[in-house]
Amino acid sequence: MKIVMVTACALFDADGRVLLAQRPEGKALAGFWEFPGGKLEAGETPEDGLIRELREELGITVKKECLAPLTFASHTYEDFHLLMPLYVCRRWDGTPVGAEGQALTWARPVRLRDYKMPPADEPLIPHLIDLVAG
Ligand code: C5P
Repeated sequence: MKIVMVTACALFDADGRVLLAQRPEGKALAGFWEFPGGKLEAGETPEDGLIRELREELGITVKKECLAPLTFASHTYEDFHLLMPLYVCRRWDGTPVGAEGQALTWARPVRLRDYKMPPADEPLIPHLIDLVAG
């Protein structure tokens, strides 16, 4: 089965809330709320790919040293297997906007279950709850 590498980021604000982006119409899983990120391009490191995606999708600038690996998702979809490292970031330049027209929301980790998320993202929720509780 084809393995697809997607990097994702839990951006935390000063209030301990995490940013979710809604997948736009026309994409797979449209309407689902996800941790921002995206597919790695050939030859890209996970960090470089994530920094590029955060700039493209949210219009923010993130430094590599502000990305801390937290955990990863490994999930079999119908036609590919998704391997998705999740990073935590608490510091960036700019204000996140849905640069590709996506809706954004800030959610407390304990409330993440209220959002319809891709099946690969759901197992990540307890890690974020632990992170803010610990
Ligand atoms: O965002 P993009 O469509 O490039 O992502 C590729 C695939 O990875 C999506 O079709 C989706 O199935 C999966 N994905 C996911 N959770 C994310 C981002 C992507 O399950 N946070």
